[in-house]
Amino acid sequence: MTALQIVRPDGRVARLALTRGDITRFQADAIVNAANSELAGGGGVDGAIHIAAGPELMTELRARHRGCPTGSAVITGAGRLVEHGVGHVIHAVGPIWRGGGRGEAEQLASAYHSALALAREVGAVSLAIPAISCGVYGYPLDAAASIAIDAVAQELTMPGPPDVATFVLRSEAVAEAFERALSARLDRVGEMAGGPDRK
Ligand code: APR
Repeated sequence: MTALQIVRPDGRVARLALTRGDITRFQADAIVNAANSELAGGGGVDGAIHIAAGPELMTELRARHRGCPTGSAVITGAGRLVEHGVGHVIHAVGPIWRGGGRGEAEQLASAYHSALALAREVGAVSLAIPAISCGVYGYPLDAAASIAIDAVAQELTMPGPPDVATFVLRSEAVAEAFERALSARLDRVGEMAGGPDRK
């Protein structure tokens, strides 16, 4: 799939990439989870991450966090995922789609910004991110993809980690929406397009 090179003010290049797959099998310093505000676990990517990380993840979540408002994020260790190099799980809570008039766009952007801020705080150089709110929370895919890419690209312009953020996308429809959003951004934000030759 496609990637975007983001040239920072200091000349360093960060990378925003799209890939298809299971985020629990992806090696990154931190992975983002699409959680709920009770941090209660669930299905989808949340269920997959808790299964892969083992019960230690829920134990740590319960011990350290009472919940997480929509549009924000909390961080824990990665349980058994440390065995393949993941140091942290960042539990971000996106909005449930209720028609678009309840601040969903701001909440979705805020979930990504909060997740990236935590990744930066712990020094995670590489980050894997799912399509928050694009499953049971029902966010329209093209709108969600565009918000996700814009929020993460904006964060990557900041100094410090992460240097590589990869959206790991399970479903074909979601992957296609993210591809469309990335292409649209490349057309729109000319200075960010292309490879290192555009530096
Ligand atoms: N790896 C990557 N992506 C995945 C995986 C996986 N293993 N499993 C599912 N996905 C994708 C889905 O295909 C979807 O595109 O993650 C995206 C987000 O879907 P959900 O997991 O349903 O998340 P969301 O829509 O944000 O809803 C959150 O669902 O599981 C519950 O506890 C969670 O209540 C919360 C709600």
